[in-house]
Amino acid sequence: MMLKLVTSIAPLRDRVAEARRAGLQVGLVPTMGALHAGHVRLIEQARLECGCVVVSIFVNPLQFDRKDDLARYPRPLQADVAVCAAAGVDIVFAPTVEGMYPGEAECTVDVGRVADHLCGRYRPGHFRGMATVVLKLLQIVQPDRAYFGEKDAQQLAVIRHMARDFNVPVRIEGVATVRDADGLALSSRNQRLAPEERVLARSLHSLLREAERLVAEGERDPKQVTAIASGILPDDDRLRLEYLDVVDPEHIQPVERIEGPVLVAGALWVGSTRLIDNLLCHPSGAPQVAALPGT
Ligand code: PAJ
Repeated sequence: MMLKLVTSIAPLRDRVAEARRAGLQVGLVPTMGALHAGHVRLIEQARLECGCVVVSIFVNPLQFDRKDDLARYPRPLQADVAVCAAAGVDIVFAPTVEGMYPGEAECTVDVGRVADHLCGRYRPGHFRGMATVVLKLLQIVQPDRAYFGEKDAQQLAVIRHMARDFNVPVRIEGVATVRDADGLALSSRNQRLAPEERVLARSLHSLLREAERLVAEGERDPKQVTAIASGILPDDDRLRLEYLDVVDPEHIQPVERIEGPVLVAGALWVGSTRLIDNLLCHPSGAPQVAALPGT
C-alpha cells in the first residue's frame, strides 16, 4: 500500500475497513508527531506484526497541563509524513483539534489510582486527557494491536488498565525505550535543549542507572535508593529534580520494601524543559524476567 494521509474520521474509517476486507491485521501507533527514532521503533514493531499500520499524529490539547508547553510543542507535519513513508506506514491519521473535539466534550476517562503518583502527581489532568484521547483513537481506528513506549511507563500502565477495565478489544504492546549513545531517552522535547543543557540532560539516565545498581546490589529500602541516587545529580542551577520514585510496575504505587522488580522513575527539569525516564530494576536474587505485565 502507498502511504495515505487522512485528516478526518470518516475517510480514515473507510481506509481501515478496506484493509480489514483484505484480511489484514491493523496496528495503531498513537503519537503527537515530531517523530524520532523512538517512534520509528514502535512503527517497526507494528510493521512486523500487522499488515496495515496506522500512525496517528495529534497534539492533544486535553493532556497538556501548561499552555506554554502546548504552544511550544513542535508540529513538523511534512517531515513526519516523510518519516512514516520511509518506515512503511500505510495510513497517517492527522486530525484537527475541531475534528477530534467538536464542541465541549462531556465525558472523559477517570483514570484512578494508577495516575496518583509520578507524573500524575505533578501534572493534574494529564493522564485523564491522555487516556481520553487514546480511548477515542482506539474507538476510531479499532486496531487489533496498539503500540506504546516503555519510556512513558506510567502512561503505558494507565492504558493497559483502561483497555482491560473497559473491555477494549485490542492488544496493548509495550516497546523498549530508544536512547542516545549517552543514555538520554529520545524525546520530542529534547530538541528544545540548548547544547549545554543537552550535556546536563544525561544526568537523568545516570541517576536511574545508579538506582538500578543499588537495587541489584541488595538495597531494599526505596528511600535509601532515591536518596543515594539523587545525590549524584550535578550541582547546577539549570537542573531541578521534580521526582525520583520507586513504584510497583503494574499499579504505579510506592513500595515499602523492594522485594521484586520495581520501576524507578524520574522527572528532571533541564532549564525550561521537563524530561522523564525510568528503568525496571531487578533486586539481586529476584527472577530476571520482564515484569511489565501484559494485557
Ligand atoms: P508521544 O510523546 O509522541 O509518544 C508517542 C509514543 O512513542 C508513546 O507511546 C511513547 O512512549 C513512545 N516513545 C516516545 N519516546 C520514545 C523512546 N525514546 N523510545 C521508545 N518509545 C518512545 O506519548 C504520547 O505521544 C501521547 O501521550 C499519546 C500516547 C500519543 C496520546 O496523546
